[in-house]
Parts: sequence; C-alpha cells; structure tokens
Amino acid sequence: MYKKKKTILIAIILVFLLTAALDNRLKIVYYKLETDKISNPLRLALITDLHSCRYGENEQKLAAAINAQKPDILMFVGDIFDDQISDANTEALLSAVAADYPCYYVTGNHEYWRGTQAFNTKMQILADYNVKRLATDTDTITINEETINICGVDDPDAYRVNNTDIQSGIASFQKQIVQLNKLNTNGNYTILLTHRPEYFQFYTKQSFDLVLCGHAHGGQWRLPGLINGIYAPNQGFLPKYAGGQYQENDTTMIVSRGLARESTRIPRIFNRPELVIIDLT
Ligand SMILES: [Fe+2]
Repeated sequence: MYKKKKTILIAIILVFLLTAALDNRLKIVYYKLETDKISNPLRLALITDLHSCRYGENEQKLAAAINAQKPDILMFVGDIFDDQISDANTEALLSAVAADYPCYYVTGNHEYWRGTQAFNTKMQILADYNVKRLATDTDTITINEETINICGVDDPDAYRVNNTDIQSGIASFQKQIVQLNKLNTNGNYTILLTHRPEYFQFYTKQSFDLVLCGHAHGGQWRLPGLINGIYAPNQGFLPKYAGGQYQENDTTMIVSRGLARESTRIPRIFNRPELVIIDLT
C-alpha cells in the first residue's frame, strides 16, 4: 500500500515537473534602467526571434500582450521571420501593432538564409508596415519630450545575400558598428540594435548606452538560478550571453530569450518565450 502511494506521488511530481519544464506560454520580462540622460520615462518593447511562430489567431495573443504594456517604441532585433516558416504570422503581428508605435528593426541571420529574393520579400513586408530598418543607420527620435538615438546594424550573415564569405560578413558587421559609434556625438542616450549578443566585448569598446539583442533563444534549456542556458548558436555550450542583463563599463546589454516556439526542433525547457519590456528612467 505504502509503495503504491509512493509511486503515485512520484508520478504526480514527474508530470508536474514535465508540464512546468515544457511550458511555452508567453512570459513578460521587465528590466528597469536608470540614466542621467533621460528625465521622463520611456518604455521599450524588445521583440525578437519570433521566427514567424504562431501566437493565436492573427497573432492576437502577442499583439494584445504588447498593447497591454503600453510601450513607447517597438524594437524588433532580428529573426522575426524564419527561413522555413511562411511570413504570414509575422505579417499578421505587424498588421496588428505596427501602425500604433514607432517601430525599428534590424536583421537576424535567418532572414538571409532563404536567399536574396525571399530576403527582399521580407524587407518589403516591413516597409509596407512602416517598420524602419536600420542598416548602419542612426535615427534620432523624440518621445515624451526625450530625444534618444537608435542605431542598428545588419546581421553578419548578410554575407549570404551579399555573395561574400563569413569572415567578410563579420568584418563588415564590426565596421558598421564602429561607423555608427562615430556618429554618436550629440550626447543623447544611444541604443544599439543588433541581433548578436556574442559580440558583447566588442560593443563595450564603443560608447553605446544600451545594446539590445536576441539570437541565443535563452540557451534552449535552462535550470533557472543554476544554469542560464545549455547551448546557443555562435556561443556553444553554457553560453555566457544566453539571456538577461549584462553590464560592463557604461554599456548595458539586454538579451531577450526570444519568442521562438514551434520553429525549433528541440523544445525549450524551463525557458518560456518572452516579450521584454525595458523601462528607461
Ligand atoms: Fe538568430
């Protein structure tokens, strides 16, 4: 009798753990950053690595979550499209939210993986919804009486449509960042949008106040409090920048764990997809 109860208890615990581990409901993750360069609060929504995954009919679940946070600006930092999944869900999201906010975008690696024609189609969708692509560009924007700079850089995998090689892609990526950094002379709070977190040490040598990234998908499997991700592309096992807030000198980097769900072959474990909200105060 005792043995039977013990078996049932173990089974209940296992089911509970498995359900919690595989939970892929959307989570909202908040960061609060203080800076002397801003007096009125600004709220940023960081949307990344959607990979055109589905969030309800017409992406309404994700759109509603974004709207509920009342952000001032939407930052899309790459891989919002996928190379295997149709662009329809991403387009539905843009259709639902893009008209209501200033929207900025930088490319991720996956946007380049289907070749030039598919890439151009995705860029046209962004243009149709007035999402501003930053590719070695800086935009200065005033919201809530605060003026900030938003810079953006193409993903190194741009080499795939530029017909060069990976080394040229990385060199061009780094050159763009140095170029952008030189433009930042007005003293405004300056944000760099870049898909890649693994270049953190390179970013800290520039003078950006905030760097926003994705790409690492939270390291796919996590043990919160113990292991912040098992594996991330371009970082390998036990990635240093899998998700969270990183600080060095005057540069803060926030890495979103992203919104990918059914696009990944290996399930996320203890790693719910996230919408990141950043309050600048
Ligand atoms: Fe990526």
